Amino acid sequence: MSNALKEYLVACQNRVERALDARLIKETILPQRLHAAIRYSTLDGGKRMRPMLTYATGQALGIKEAALDGPACAVEFIHVYSLIHDDLPAMDNDDLRRGKPTCHIAFDHATAILAGDALQALAFETLAHDPSIIATAENRLKMITCLAKASGSQGMVGGQAIDLDSVGKKISLPELENMHIHKTGALIRASVNLAALSKADIRAEQAEQLDHYAKCIGLSFQVKDDILDIESDTATLGKTQGKDIDNDKPTYPALLGMAGAKQKAQELHEAALTSLSGFGPEADLLRDLSLYIIERSH
Ligand code: IPE
Ligand code: IPE
Ligand code: MG
Ligand code: MG
Ligand code: MG
Repeated sequence: MSNALKEYLVACQNRVERALDARLIKETILPQRLHAAIRYSTLDGGKRMRPMLTYATGQALGIKEAALDGPACAVEFIHVYSLIHDDLPAMDNDDLRRGKPTCHIAFDHATAILAGDALQALAFETLAHDPSIIATAENRLKMITCLAKASGSQGMVGGQAIDLDSVGKKISLPELENMHIHKTGALIRASVNLAALSKADIRAEQAEQLDHYAKCIGLSFQVKDDILDIESDTATLGKTQGKDIDNDKPTYPALLGMAGAKQKAQELHEAALTSLSGFGPEADLLRDLSLYIIERSH
């Protein structure tokens, strides 16, 4: 990773931390245990890839970061809710997340379910009301629709349903791709598209190119997640390594072998770069993030 990218990642993570903190209810407010669980799972952890993609798309389009704090937080709220629920015993049954005990271990199962529920609601409240958002009223509605579709039964939740239904089964490559596009790709795509919707006069062609870029990296992100589950270690990942094999999950390495999975990630990165060929250096951050996604160690 270049020093410039490293610096950007740290600056961006700090910005996201402050923006999330400012939008979360303090844990001194009732119900305190619920607010404590929400803050525990949302703050101080995670790569913040989705908010970063929102800001980087903003950079490609000349939108100020301050105008994207709301959308960036909204997408991270949905992501954190998805992680809390993904870790529950009824789903992946994980006890480590972002280097600390999962929400249902640190608190209890009911609180974890409710923390996820509340974060989901907060995401949409943020898009509806956040003063940072500069989008027109019409585009604000489009943002809400975009995130709702990306989160629901035809987006992340749908992908999670397919994932759980696929445990122990042999699925085809198109079925695996469909699962990944939904469970992970949809929210990453929304991270980019929420920024695009912040620019009222965006050209349709530009919006399409960004959407295509987002589709490619959304899939490569989960391909890499599957690879890391095998190749990395628990301390680096901050979540228990090897859980996909333990849980008998279909993954890219399981279907294509490790070399095939890595080749797939590389091809998706190249396709992502091609999608951005109409952009100049203003999209370099998006290009760097695509490479980071397939080269990251956690
Ligand atoms: C993990 O996402 C879950 C997937 C969708 C693959 P991240 O790898 O972005 O997790 P954090 O936010 O950095 O913890
Ligand atoms: C989770 O995919 C995708 C979500 C919607 C949370 P995984 O189950 O592979 O994510 P990790 O590996 O637990 O982070
Ligand atoms: Mg899962
Ligand atoms: Mg999981
Ligand atoms: Mg995983």
